[in-house]
Amino acid sequence: MKFLILTFLSLVALSYGSGCQQPSLKLTRFPGCPADPGSGWRSLQPVTKQQCAMLCAKQSWCAALSLDAASTADGIGQLGVCRLFTAETALLGWNSSCVGQSGLASSDRLSSFQTEYLAARNVTHKRVHIPNNSVKIFAAFLQHQPTVSSLIGCVAKCSELPACRGIVFNSSNCSLLTDYPLCRWFEQPPNTSELAVYEFHTVGTQQCFETVNLRVSDALSFDRLWAEYKTGFGTYHGNYFAGLEWLHARTSAQPSSNRFRVDLLYWNDTYIYAYYLNVLILAESTNYTVSEFTFEPARGLHQDLFVGNNFQFQTRDRGLSTCSNGLNCAQRYQPQWHKCCHNSGPFGKYFNYPTALNVPAADRARGIVWASNAPNNITDGHYYSFKQLEILMLT
Ligand SMILES: *[C@@H]1O[C@H](CO)[C@@H](O)[C@H](O)[C@H]1NC(C)=O
Ligand SMILES: *[C@@H]1O[C@H](CO)[C@@H](O)[C@H](O)[C@H]1NC(C)=O
Ligand SMILES: *[C@@H]1O[C@H](CO)[C@@H](O)[C@H](O)[C@H]1NC(C)=O
Ligand SMILES: *[C@@H]1O[C@H](CO)[C@@H](O)[C@H](O)[C@H]1NC(C)=O
Ligand SMILES: *[C@@H]1O[C@H](CO)[C@@H](O)[C@H](O)[C@H]1NC(C)=O
Ligand SMILES: *[C@@H]1O[C@H](CO)[C@@H](O)[C@H](O)[C@H]1NC(C)=O
Ligand SMILES: *[C@@H]1O[C@H](CO)[C@@H](O)[C@H](O)[C@H]1NC(C)=O
Ligand SMILES: *[C@@H]1O[C@H](CO)[C@@H](O)[C@H](O)[C@H]1NC(C)=O
Ligand SMILES: *[C@@H]1O[C@H](CO)[C@@H](O)[C@H](O)[C@H]1NC(C)=O
Repeated sequence: MKFLILTFLSLVALSYGSGCQQPSLKLTRFPGCPADPGSGWRSLQPVTKQQCAMLCAKQSWCAALSLDAASTADGIGQLGVCRLFTAETALLGWNSSCVGQSGLASSDRLSSFQTEYLAARNVTHKRVHIPNNSVKIFAAFLQHQPTVSSLIGCVAKCSELPACRGIVFNSSNCSLLTDYPLCRWFEQPPNTSELAVYEFHTVGTQQCFETVNLRVSDALSFDRLWAEYKTGFGTYHGNYFAGLEWLHARTSAQPSSNRFRVDLLYWNDTYIYAYYLNVLILAESTNYTVSEFTFEPARGLHQDLFVGNNFQFQTRDRGLSTCSNGLNCAQRYQPQWHKCCHNSGPFGKYFNYPTALNVPAADRARGIVWASNAPNNITDGHYYSFKQLEILMLT
């Protein structure tokens, strides 16, 4: 909020004679709406600015005032109808859609109200670092609120929207985040400078999406054996897999209340995603069988992660083949919960542009594929390897 210090402050102090109690109000100009924004108190007779300020100072609930200048304009006297407002009325009711005359607000009372208001709604301030390649994804969940210009107005808007998990409040710009943030956005990745930094507030929750699997480049091979898939590998902010044991532990700890999201980015930077709920990955003794999941469509991404329930994870060195000819799917297509064989390749080989748009036949189905979402100008869905893939799990 941009408050301008007003010379009016000295007028308030002067109007109290020596020996009188000094007013505690520090009045600052509030670029709000002077028309009654709510149930403000109203003086019956026109008063001067000084009188109006004194009336406000005497009321513990008064945090802002306005003088109805329209009915005055009589020069020195500046008589007008005085309106007194609570902090809540001033902060939530006065917004950028109100132009023209200015109201006056006590910054002390407004800021203490703001502190209490934010605490009551469990608001936490954080900085989020969004890598270049995820700015588009982040933007897909932001709803700009052009009519909201105060921080608590922004939080109030978020509280009204059930899907809202936080806000980006920039100076006087409010945007609501309509899904949970990604946990890794709260840390600056090592050795990166090209990041968009946002002033972010979580609202009512501190949950975030943890990265389970992330594919961003060909810098790390995912053609690995069972032992590594069991424990996980890679770096958390880059190409990464949290590991099958992690997945088993996390899904079996809350088998009927977990939430995953799959994010896919095409090479033209179009972003699609969907949710997977209540995923259950069984223990290593079952070869990390996927035993349950519920698909929840959202923005375009189709259910291709699993071929069905009760399929084992398979690497080159472990996992049962379900192919009648005994083909080892992982050998040809890299690991996955295969069923002779797969519709998606979260652990596939990363292909670069432009090869990835239509990989050679020898590499068919080996890439970061998502068969039902591939562009329709290729031979089949297994020839397109995506630019970025991420599997996330809500904390
Ligand atoms: C802005 O203030 C006006 C007048 O008080 C009110 O009618 C309107 O609903 C407010 N808009 C928002 C988005 O808070
Ligand atoms: C927030 O403000 C900073 C600095 O003014 C700017 O660089 C950034 O783009 C803004 N972000 C948004 C989402 O408006
Ligand atoms: C606020 O949003 C407007 C419109 O999106 C943008 O032009 C302006 O740069 C933003 N201001 C800040 C400080 O981010
Ligand atoms: C960051 O960069 C420096 C210098 O290039 C290098 O020595 C260091 O290992 C890097 N750190 C990480 C975590 O990559
Ligand atoms: C990130 O984006 C900025 C601005 O668009 C660009 O200059 C920079 O090269 C990008 N960095 C990477 C690693 O893509
Ligand atoms: C705020 O959120 C955190 C994390 O979700 C939770 O542990 C805490 O109880 C919440 N506090 C209030 C006052 O709701
Ligand atoms: C796990 O896979 C191995 C082959 O690598 C197989 O011998 C074993 O029977 C499988 N376990 C189960 C429970 O099917
Ligand atoms: C990007 O490519 C996908 C797949 O072909 C297509 O569905 C989408 O419309 C494209 N987006 C844009 C902006 O061209
Ligand atoms: C499919 O269309 C896209 C966008 O026009 C193009 O970039 C790509 O090369 C095409 N792929 C094939 C196999 O023709």
